[in-house]
Amino acid sequence: MSKVIKRIAVFTSGGDAPGMNAAVRAVVRTATYHDLHVYGIYRGYEGMIEGDLRRLEPRNVGNIIHRGGTILKTARSQRFREAAGRKQAFESLQAFDIDGCIAIGGDGTFTGASVFSKEHDIPFIGVPGTIDNDLYGTDYTIGFDTAINTAVEAVDKIRDTADSHNRLFFVEVMGRNSGYIALHTGIGSGAGCVLIPENDMGIDQLIDILKKGAKRKKLFSVVIVAEGSPHGGAGEIAAKVQEQFDFYDTKVTIIGHLQRGGSPTCLDRVLASRLGYHAVEALIAGRSSEMVGIINDKVTYTPFEEAIAKSKPVNDDLVKMAEILAI
Ligand code: F6P
Repeated sequence: MSKVIKRIAVFTSGGDAPGMNAAVRAVVRTATYHDLHVYGIYRGYEGMIEGDLRRLEPRNVGNIIHRGGTILKTARSQRFREAAGRKQAFESLQAFDIDGCIAIGGDGTFTGASVFSKEHDIPFIGVPGTIDNDLYGTDYTIGFDTAINTAVEAVDKIRDTADSHNRLFFVEVMGRNSGYIALHTGIGSGAGCVLIPENDMGIDQLIDILKKGAKRKKLFSVVIVAEGSPHGGAGEIAAKVQEQFDFYDTKVTIIGHLQRGGSPTCLDRVLASRLGYHAVEALIAGRSSEMVGIINDKVTYTPFEEAIAKSKPVNDDLVKMAEILAI
């Protein structure tokens, strides 16, 4: 039988994502409702190693639902990759009598949690928080909706100046290994073309599309490039295109970390609240080493190993549609 949970810890790790605070708030309040004590671990696994845990009560998480970033701070910990670091982290959790942990983050966070849970007897539940939306086991991750809205707002502004000057803009969005942000930004902003790690559109094909557009009297164009595009970043691709096709004056914009900040959208706040709430319920029910997600509006639990190893491909239908709508 799984042990009774009395004290839990919550932390955020990896890249921050808008909505993480809403998830922390949901964890603290749900746990308090169930008479559990909650500790916040500051700076992710780094803080776990150093024993940087502080008691969180419902009033400590007031007035944070609308704030971007994470009040618990975050880090990418090298030390936690080593068994010695994880042992030290276990000892810190023991010192605070922690019976279970809730990890809010992406695949790196869950890789750490998965390894830790095999070595040490403390259950972990994961909450998917990354703007990249690249986790298997949930339709959407916390922060994705806010990030694409930020990116679309930026591209709308770029469109105005691109149109005024008849320019070709290459706009780079985040997404190291995944094209979700680029694809949704491309469709939502009416871009002329989207380059993502998942499709193999080469420079020649891109030039062909741009030439056809120019023939149809397209006087400006915006191309969205995912950070992880196989043909390089927006700057590299723009240079290659400009070499062979100088119909347009070419410009490059990298939206970068703007996409990670800002007040979360209502969709992200609701998603984060639901996931945080169900993460606590899962720990109480004796679940461990699973990521809580939402698929088709139903709460699901995916083993960490699956969430990390399996990929969540972008929707081919959207890829095709993006091309057709750009003619
Ligand atoms: O994992 C989210 C993400 O935003 C990626 O899209 C991006 O490549 C990465 O984080 C950047 O991370 P950092 O800000 O730590 O360099």
